[in-house]
Amino acid sequence: MNAPISAEEVGFAPASRIARIDVSEIVRIGARALGLKREGKPIIILGAGEPDFDTPDFVKQGAIDAIQAGDTKYTALDGTPALKQAIQAKFSRENNVDYALDEITVATGAKQILFNAMMASLNAGDEVVIPTPYWTSYSDIVQIAEGVPVLVTCTAEAGFRLTAEQLEQAITPKTKWVLLNSPSNPSGAAYSEADYRPLLDVLLRHPQVMLLVDDMYEHITYDDFRFVTPAAIEPRLKERTLTVNGVSKAYAMTGWRIGYAGGPKALIKAMSVVQSQATSCPSSVSQAASVAALNGDQSFLAERKASFQRRRDLVVAGLNAIEGITCRVPEGAFYTFASCAGLLGRKTADERIIETDSDFCNYLLTNAHVAVVPGSAFGLSPFFRISYATSEAELTEALSRIARACEALSA
Ligand SMILES: Cc1ncc(COP(=O)(O)O)c(C=O)c1O
Repeated sequence: MNAPISAEEVGFAPASRIARIDVSEIVRIGARALGLKREGKPIIILGAGEPDFDTPDFVKQGAIDAIQAGDTKYTALDGTPALKQAIQAKFSRENNVDYALDEITVATGAKQILFNAMMASLNAGDEVVIPTPYWTSYSDIVQIAEGVPVLVTCTAEAGFRLTAEQLEQAITPKTKWVLLNSPSNPSGAAYSEADYRPLLDVLLRHPQVMLLVDDMYEHITYDDFRFVTPAAIEPRLKERTLTVNGVSKAYAMTGWRIGYAGGPKALIKAMSVVQSQATSCPSSVSQAASVAALNGDQSFLAERKASFQRRRDLVVAGLNAIEGITCRVPEGAFYTFASCAGLLGRKTADERIIETDSDFCNYLLTNAHVAVVPGSAFGLSPFFRISYATSEAELTEALSRIARACEALSA
């Protein structure tokens, strides 16, 4: 039998639109962590971007009912009428924004919403302003759509939030979008109405710029933080704002793959053209489950939020007690983004110097058996992200291992 021919031998090279994009560091660290786990090492993975809760029973029932009713065929291209109505009611009830049904679109996860939006709107060379640290997919999706990510560093001192001056400076005649995410993955930072106001004032002065807001973590906020979305704060921007949301995080439905958005009709229509040739429509069963989620009793959200808040407090306190680590208190999501600047330059027992946040995360993985993600994966160093969507017992154990590993470093 002939030996199989490798892709290189047949002359395969990736298309230029994806050649610059690598598998993310999150995936790489995750694979290493799983490899060590398979070898029997007691690895604690604090890298996952999904709640550890189960999808609520009433949501599962919505899906079971749909299957039994034969609701298992292609649906309308960008969402069933029932789901669009549930989303319309959600936007009005929870966000004080009114969208017509043809201003709403549904896709296979919020990630596909972002993909559809960029593919539908960017011409080669168009710029997209992305406050940094950012969710890795933002810059990759922009690049696949042949746009240019314009990364603007938002420091811990500025609460990882973009300022009006930074936004003003980042906008050029080529700017097509500004992409804001509140609460943020990876920093957990969120914009209050007062934080948003100066940014929206800048956008009012630049009528060619569109605003994409990713409200995915809307239901996971802490203390007395009040979530708001820009289309509600500034109706004059509603016609050029895409308000993105989904059921993945709030309803613990990451595997069901349903995301949605409200926005200007012309953009929503263009996005449906992209979707029509990518997936035809989102899963019929998952859409039925999402109707149940959005129309059902929302009281369980408060309980889950309280549980996340206890874990946030545990992790922030544990990290800040470690010499060399500083962690800002996040307003939302289920991530901490702590600085490891105070540990750079220190030496491990085998005389290796911790020079970067990647070195630090690799050290934690091999010595403390805890997997966390370096800030470099999100465009800002020297930081590391912990996802605290796991049990308090596991978090406590992980924190004490991290503390021991840090103490073992020498100056
Ligand atoms: C900020 C942010 N937006 C969007 C998504 C994507 O969510 P979905 O599961 O709906 O694709 C994620 C998932 O990690 C996220 O962190």
